[in-house]
Amino acid sequence: MILPGSASQDLAAALAAELDEPLAAVEYDRFADGEQIVRVPESADRAVVVASTVSDAAHVQLLQLQDAARQQADEVVTVLPYMGYARQDEPFEEGQPVSARAMAKAISTGTDRVLTVNPHEDAVCDFFDAPCESVDAAGRLAEPLPDLTRPLFLSPDAGAIDLAETVRDAYGAGETDYFEKHRVSDTEVEIQPSDADTTGRDVVLVDDIIATGSTMSSAIAQLSGPSHIFVTCIHPMLAASARTKLANAGVDAVYGTDTIERAVSAVSAAPAIAEHL
Ligand code: R5P
Repeated sequence: MILPGSASQDLAAALAAELDEPLAAVEYDRFADGEQIVRVPESADRAVVVASTVSDAAHVQLLQLQDAARQQADEVVTVLPYMGYARQDEPFEEGQPVSARAMAKAISTGTDRVLTVNPHEDAVCDFFDAPCESVDAAGRLAEPLPDLTRPLFLSPDAGAIDLAETVRDAYGAGETDYFEKHRVSDTEVEIQPSDADTTGRDVVLVDDIIATGSTMSSAIAQLSGPSHIFVTCIHPMLAASARTKLANAGVDAVYGTDTIERAVSAVSAAPAIAEHL
């Protein structure tokens, strides 16, 4: 059975359909003091908990779902479509935790296996005590793209060039390139232009996540005379005013997957996840 976290119900339903497994009608509630509670009303041989940890509350709910699942199933698999805190994979200043490791250790206690979709670095899997695999859903981002003129697939930094290449390969045509990025602060980045000529071309920007939108909007500011600009990402977090920043930057369309369920979640990561289940 598939057990959805409350923030991952679309993806869980898509995964249940993909695998032809029952979708459990989990009950989510809160006590008067604000503490969360869940109820898993069914049992099965295997429980697949599908929960993006998009907030601290979602982290708590995931641990609760795992614990309830353990009592209702022989095997518990945890799917983290989006793993929160994964970008905190080192202490940035002395005295800080490796938050990704802390989360991974907590999540490992309640599961037999973990799958996570396009984490910021695949190495985050090493933090889990349970076996962990990274799922690549990037190819799906080509699906909503229209017919493109002289397409150029650009990543905002060298670390995301593999994603841009995967989307280009799935689209079936076009060049790839990347920008040089320097992060100034949590909300500010400096981007150096790529060598590629963007004049009159349809540009597709590809990244693992859009959080504040600073990276994408800074990259767009470096484009010279593009015909159209499409922004794609695996995880459309789109925090605060990110969507507005992108609109004001002149983006024609934004596409993401349903690892984080937003209006721009044009494609599902379910088929890619199902291949690992
Ligand atoms: C960082 O290297 C990531 O790949 C993303 O580029 C970054 O986290 C996006 O964050 P924001 O939208 O806040 O610039």
